Amino acid sequence: MSRSEKLKPAVRLKKMRVTKAVIPAAGLGTRFLPATKAQPKEMLPVYDKPAIQYVIEEAVAAGIKDILIITGRGKQSIENHFDRSIELEENLKAHGKARDLQEVQEISSLVNLYYVRQKEALGLGHAVLCAKSFVGSEPFAVFLGDDIMDSQPPAISQLLDVWDRYQGPVLGVLDVPRELTSAYGIIKPQALSADLFKVDDLVEKPAPEKAPSQLGIVGRYVLTPDIFEMLETTKAGSGGEIQLTDALRRLNRKRPIYAVRLKGHRHDIGNKVEFVKATLAYAMKDPNARKPILEFMKTLVENKGRF
Ligand code: G1P
Repeated sequence: MSRSEKLKPAVRLKKMRVTKAVIPAAGLGTRFLPATKAQPKEMLPVYDKPAIQYVIEEAVAAGIKDILIITGRGKQSIENHFDRSIELEENLKAHGKARDLQEVQEISSLVNLYYVRQKEALGLGHAVLCAKSFVGSEPFAVFLGDDIMDSQPPAISQLLDVWDRYQGPVLGVLDVPRELTSAYGIIKPQALSADLFKVDDLVEKPAPEKAPSQLGIVGRYVLTPDIFEMLETTKAGSGGEIQLTDALRRLNRKRPIYAVRLKGHRHDIGNKVEFVKATLAYAMKDPNARKPILEFMKTLVENKGRF
């Protein structure tokens, strides 16, 4: 056996760490009109931060070093938000607003951010495919900005634990009501333990009577670069779009895919009511806002929605 052959198994066994993430943010935000007509839905503030910042902070907390944001036309304010704003910094400095200054400076130093444009809104699968050169031959995380996860440990860390163990693709899942299966990718699970599953199959947005379970995919994935071969040849599916779920379904025939039932609370902020609830939930964490908002809510409840 040659020396290079002897080395092969060791190379294969080397555990790979996930340091890259992809955030698709090119969607048109049609579920949130008119708010998203001229501003990206990712920039809508959930209490005092744009939605996308929560997701980036989750990635940073899990040790992700480089993030590619897939943007589209009209999404420049995302880049501006994470860039330095010298004029604003000078203004805050001149007015002695040290805390605000620190906060805006921190935003631009959170992580290395990269941007690429998805030229046409052809679906989530197509958006992820735009990350192919950035990802190269490494495993990577995908975060969908509509799902803000309030959890400890961070949701993506719960997936990364499974990745560390199996070195295979992992999906975050949560129980969803039967009548809502048509809003999610749904897995057919094979339980490995109470909250860990091997995925036997998965289907994008099935009707309740066709859903293989009530475990719906949350916007957190750890993927391997072989997903790109699948995405390149996946045809438009549900909603006429190229679906990540369909590509994963094909990948699943070649290698095992895992799913973990996430601990923590998910805010689906793509939905207007859930968005308001998320804003309230984060406001409750601010000691200055908690009391006045609770008082206001009490008045609203007592007056049956009027004030
Ligand atoms: C996407 C995915 C779906 C997943 C969901 C999670 O759907 O296609 O499989 O369950 O995100 O939020 P979307 O919400 O973009 O329609």
